[in-house]
Amino acid sequence: MYNEINWDSIDLKQAPPDIEPQRQYYFIKMLKNWFDGKVKEKGRKLTCQVNTFGCQMNSRDSEKILGILKCIGYIQSDSENADLVVFNTCTVRENANLKVYGRIGQLKKYKVKNPGMVTVLCGCMMQEKEAVAKIRKSYKNVDIIFGTHNIYKFAELLAMKVLDSPDSSKMIIDILDNAESIVENLPSKRKYPFKSGVNIMYGCNNFCSYCIVPYVRGRERSRKPEDIIKEIEELVKDGVKEVMLLGQNVNSYGKNLENPVTFTELLEMVEHIDGLCRIRFMTSHPKDLSDSLIEFMGRSKKLCKHIHLPLQSGSSRLLKIMNRHYTKEDYLLLVDKIKKAVPDIAVTTDIITGFPGETEEDFNETLDVIEKAGFDNAFTFIYSKRTGTPAASMEGQVPENVVKERFDRLLEKVHNVSSKKSAQYLGKVYDVLAEEVNVQEDGYITGRMGQNYLVHFKGDKNLIGKIVPVKLCESRGFYYYGELVQNNK
Ligand code: 5AD
Ligand code: SF4
Repeated sequence: MYNEINWDSIDLKQAPPDIEPQRQYYFIKMLKNWFDGKVKEKGRKLTCQVNTFGCQMNSRDSEKILGILKCIGYIQSDSENADLVVFNTCTVRENANLKVYGRIGQLKKYKVKNPGMVTVLCGCMMQEKEAVAKIRKSYKNVDIIFGTHNIYKFAELLAMKVLDSPDSSKMIIDILDNAESIVENLPSKRKYPFKSGVNIMYGCNNFCSYCIVPYVRGRERSRKPEDIIKEIEELVKDGVKEVMLLGQNVNSYGKNLENPVTFTELLEMVEHIDGLCRIRFMTSHPKDLSDSLIEFMGRSKKLCKHIHLPLQSGSSRLLKIMNRHYTKEDYLLLVDKIKKAVPDIAVTTDIITGFPGETEEDFNETLDVIEKAGFDNAFTFIYSKRTGTPAASMEGQVPENVVKERFDRLLEKVHNVSSKKSAQYLGKVYDVLAEEVNVQEDGYITGRMGQNYLVHFKGDKNLIGKIVPVKLCESRGFYYYGELVQNNK
């Protein structure tokens, strides 16, 4: 493991090793020495800020970037006026890109005052050639750009910038078109001491016709189960009670391994880890969700009673064009099976409106599924045209005013259905993982139910990181006010 590294054994007089992660440890050590020099020169430690856009995969990647920075010596800061600023970008929807351009533009003023400031861009948007070309041309304040396939190389790229060309305006760009092998055992800095995301696979093979992810994250690669288990065991030793297994489509985990393992088999292994209390996973594709997984969900003691199952559209006609490989009826049947196996499970989803060719009839089918599936919550999106995806060149792009009006109706429907659903949990007692002090209300703690609802309750801050029973007293949509029943775990 990374924390077993013997830094003294790394000889910086030798050339950097060719194997990973040893090569990165070498550059981290080099940067540690450089950092010590900077502390002497400036009379203070350098600061860093890591900004994350997009999904849980990006959040986990940011923890890895922050892990490397902390290991070098950087102090985490809330301000963009830091010595090193990272933007870990998303490109799933157009406005995600626009936000990033706005933010890097704003950084220019800080660089004038602090010429040694380092600006780093990484993540999905950097896998798009047009975006990188635009940054090269118009955002010369950026120092380092890398993509989704070589995050592990961050220390090496940072060393290239700050050690080899600190004063030049040379932009260091390192983007791979395809994923190399998975590099294990790099440092990471968790946001919460008691819970963590754990990547079980990278990439996606599904090519839903609206989605850019397979183009920017590459094909599916699964981590070996033994590496995953070892990581979780280490996390548990370090105080983690809850893990979220992460992948674009966790249900197809393990298919490409030398010795294939199913997702359910992996879950069985994770369930047996002593000291681990809760397991979550994200995201599931309805087409790959197996009966064995549903059966396991019914009997597992540790799996949280929540599944995120993206619907995208309720129209079988559109689902076919979206390349989703299930129909409205298949989806509803699946939800039914899951609810029978796990009676008080919360089901959440993703829905897109305004996909090319979406008619009023198609849209009504979506509203119908929301009602019938009885979602606890739904992330709703207006279709965004992503250049390079099949849907971008499809005929029948829906006019903006029509989409906006449908989007409002979608929100209203989701709100009505989820309020009915959340009322069902009221009055009962649930285990809640206390996560943080509620900054808005004095004396209140915010925690999370297995069903993923947030719960605010009166309690002391030493409850944080503990799983405590809380009675739900008042519902406010996707969060509750509750009362601590007793504190025994
Ligand atoms: N437009 C709008 N929403 C999209 N998503 C993916 N691609 C697009 C797009 N082009 C949504 C899907 C997916 C979620 C992560 O983002 O609903 O499940
Ligand atoms: Fe995109 Fe579809 Fe893959 Fe999800 S399953 S990441 S929506 S292509």
